Amino acid sequence: MAASARAFVLRHTRLGPVPGLEEISLHLADEVLPLWRAVQVETGDPDAALPYWAFAWAGGLAIGRYVIEHPEAVAGRRVFDLATGSGLCAIAAMRAGATQATGVDIDAFAAAAIGLNARANGARVTVLRRDVLDEEPPAADVLLAGDCWYDARLAERVLPWLRRAQEHGIDVLVGDPGRRYLPVDELVELATYEVRTTTELEDMDHRVGRVYRLSGDAHRRQRPAAPPGLR
Ligand SMILES: C[S@@+](CC[C@H](N)C(=O)[O-])C[C@H]1O[C@@H](n2cnc3c(N)ncnc32)[C@H](O)[C@@H]1O
Repeated sequence: MAASARAFVLRHTRLGPVPGLEEISLHLADEVLPLWRAVQVETGDPDAALPYWAFAWAGGLAIGRYVIEHPEAVAGRRVFDLATGSGLCAIAAMRAGATQATGVDIDAFAAAAIGLNARANGARVTVLRRDVLDEEPPAADVLLAGDCWYDARLAERVLPWLRRAQEHGIDVLVGDPGRRYLPVDELVELATYEVRTTTELEDMDHRVGRVYRLSGDAHRRQRPAAPPGLR
């Protein structure tokens, strides 16, 4: 599957600079529906996932801009990019001086795309293709989560995992254009960017993408206070 997934990605995308983040080039598609249909045919699965990996999403674009403009957020640190899609955030982190970057995604085509995109940018990115959300937090210093809040079930699983990562001392950065399940009460805004996306994915070709740090406060507030004497 790995070799054929790579060939599939190459056949259906074009390598070019990311609009608004031209220091990074990715294998991207122009149209989502024909590619989705091609994925369904290739996998024989009418319920195959959308080809998220063939686009740079607004949340990932915001994180990419942020780490390039604020390299101190990742420089000299180990970065883990959850739901990496094309690998955009992991690649941006390596460009900004991360010592290592791992991109994780459940999609086999994403795994192939990350490898191709990392190579196109001269970045070394370790690819994990599995669902890590029931696992312990990774050995990392910074966790990036770009555009993960578009689906209720995914959001329900991502938030506790990110909280756990933060409790393990990992900095958690979230990038998002204000999707429905974004846990705004638990986030501290760090930066706002107007990002160029595509009407193939969004209803506008520009969106406001924000970068946040997971605060941990809302979660701590919900915990019962320790009885006197045990504080
Ligand atoms: C909207 S895309 C965002 C991609 C990238 N972070 C960006 O901003 O361009 C969401 C990605 O989450 C991935 N995904 C969904 N469920 C996941 C899970 N349980 N673990 C890891 N990745 C997952 C999808 O395959 C998809 O690539």
